[in-house]
Amino acid sequence: MSHSDEYSLESLHDRFIQKFGRAEQQTSVFFAPGRVNLIGEYTDFTGGLVFPCGVDRGTTLLIRPTYNNQYRFASTNFDLMAQLDQEEISRTYGDNWINYPLGILDQFSRRGIELTGFDCLYSGNIPNGAGLSSSASIEVVTAYALNSLLRTELPLLDLVRIAQKAENDFVGMQCGIMDQFAVAFAKADHAIMLDCHSLEHQQVPLQLDGYAIVVTNTNQRRELNESAYNDRVRECQRALELLVPDTGISHLGELEPEQLDSHEFLFVNDAIPLQRARHIAEENKRVRAAVPALVAGDLQQFGRMMNESHDSLRDLFEVSSEPLNQLVRLAREQPGVLGSRLTGAGFGGCTVSLLPADQVESFIKHVGPAYTKATGLTADFYPIAPGNGVGPVDRENGA
Ligand code: GLA
Repeated sequence: MSHSDEYSLESLHDRFIQKFGRAEQQTSVFFAPGRVNLIGEYTDFTGGLVFPCGVDRGTTLLIRPTYNNQYRFASTNFDLMAQLDQEEISRTYGDNWINYPLGILDQFSRRGIELTGFDCLYSGNIPNGAGLSSSASIEVVTAYALNSLLRTELPLLDLVRIAQKAENDFVGMQCGIMDQFAVAFAKADHAIMLDCHSLEHQQVPLQLDGYAIVVTNTNQRRELNESAYNDRVRECQRALELLVPDTGISHLGELEPEQLDSHEFLFVNDAIPLQRARHIAEENKRVRAAVPALVAGDLQQFGRMMNESHDSLRDLFEVSSEPLNQLVRLAREQPGVLGSRLTGAGFGGCTVSLLPADQVESFIKHVGPAYTKATGLTADFYPIAPGNGVGPVDRENGA
């Protein structure tokens, strides 16, 4: 189990004492990674297919019970520290990261679980707002830690649901289940083929045979914008409403592109929902083609699907941005690159590219300056080693 590498575990323990002082109760340590989605974007809340993997960056949480109904939250990433009492934890705390742990506490109390106070120090090395699920990482590590300290013994899938619900109800983002699921269930060197309707999933070995996954951060100030995301959710709901009576489908994720072709007439006054539904149907089809291609070692095909996914997110689903499009264009121009697309919710954030491992250095050398020239922004590059999901960190091997 790894943890954020900016701080050693010893120095995090020192920080914890500096912030909260010493106490008799024991401090425990947990880690949850971020995730990168390889293909299957915006399909999760329609009950479709996704294919994410964990990343080797994430959130480390040091946590200690207080038993005095006081809750203190601090982070090595932000100066803000909050001290709340029992009544205050059920209300949102401004518009900042503390709402993620608060949303989890709220979900635990709604399930009738008694809470009596915690000191929590978070330390993350996932870039914020980059589409790598720093928020799901905070939520899932908190839910996992509470489950362990309170001995509630909820199965991991329940913790995933708690984390998603925290984000839906407390933070107000109507996200699907992909991020929280990936962060919880990730397995090193694997990606997860997840059916977001049945929650059936399969761990697929990422045998990249000399290829590498590189995540590139646009560093575009993200204007997301829960509202743009929630708009897409609503547009997809509208498409489903129109389709249900004639097709009998129960969720948009089961819609086939051909089925949509023959029901276009239902959308005479709903051009936008039609466009969104087309993306969903085709994206699911792409995931169904891409994953077996990867398993069969046909990385070319996988890369083609990644490219088509981006183009559809740009043109049909309209969640891309100029910097994302520039980055994707420049990536695809580099020798040997098989595919490049935006990953996560878009509107800025990161791209993910598949390229020969021995070309990574030259990729960074060429794309970096060309991107700056085109946009005035500076990109960051993170070659990804798919890591494990949430778990405890022990002092011996975590430091
Ligand atoms: C965000 C959401 C996910 C998913 C992606 C887009 O990361 O949290 O649920 O919808 O966007 O695929």
